[in-house]
Amino acid sequence: MTGIRIAPSVLSADLLRLEEQVGQVLAGGADWLHVDVMDGRFVPNLTFGAGVIAALRRLTDKPIDVHLMVVEPERYIEPFAQAGASVFTFHPEATTHPQRQLDAVRSRGMLAGLALNPGTPLALAEELVADLDLLLIMTVNPGFGGQTYLPGSNDKIRRARALLSARGSRAFLEVDGGIAPQTIGDAHAAGADTFVAGNAVFASPDPAREVRELRKRCAVPV
Ligand code: DX5
Ligand code: ZN
Repeated sequence: MTGIRIAPSVLSADLLRLEEQVGQVLAGGADWLHVDVMDGRFVPNLTFGAGVIAALRRLTDKPIDVHLMVVEPERYIEPFAQAGASVFTFHPEATTHPQRQLDAVRSRGMLAGLALNPGTPLALAEELVADLDLLLIMTVNPGFGGQTYLPGSNDKIRRARALLSARGSRAFLEVDGGIAPQTIGDAHAAGADTFVAGNAVFASPDPAREVRELRKRCAVPV
């Protein structure tokens, strides 16, 4: 793992101007595009599916980072791989055999990620570290954009970084929820290297500038 990645979440984009808004964040240097898939069961909201992933794939060669907040995420491995997803991250509570699903994701050529809710202990990832390309620490309870970064998150990020280091893992350590210029520095200092940001980027009149600003806040030495 080297450097950092900024992954704007299209959940907060203006869907009537999706192509233009994606162009703006890419112009600002966005590394990945984050797509939040919600099924109205694992979380109360409903969002996107394979069609939106395929449409974004036609806009860019950058990695498409898909975050599934759905029950039985295994049902989407094949269709999302075909749609052009690059990273496939799911929550361990949402499936009976997370290790099997991580394997299945990798065998379809995607990076395999596990996401932990604020109330989900890090211990749920411990036996799976060798199977992970990415560990996502949720810094809000998932379901909606524009929520406030939970202050207890920094300690969990530190413990997640220690876990990955102790196991010699090169998995990305991603954070998602409430990431803004005011919070990204602490999350980075705690050990995160990949940052999802929705509201902070797309509520701005200049999304490209916000992406650059987020990256700049990580340049401060830790
Ligand atoms: C939360 C989603 C996030 C969300 C982040 O349920 O997983 O990816 O889009 O949005 P902000 O950055 O607005 O908190
Ligand atoms: Zn997300």
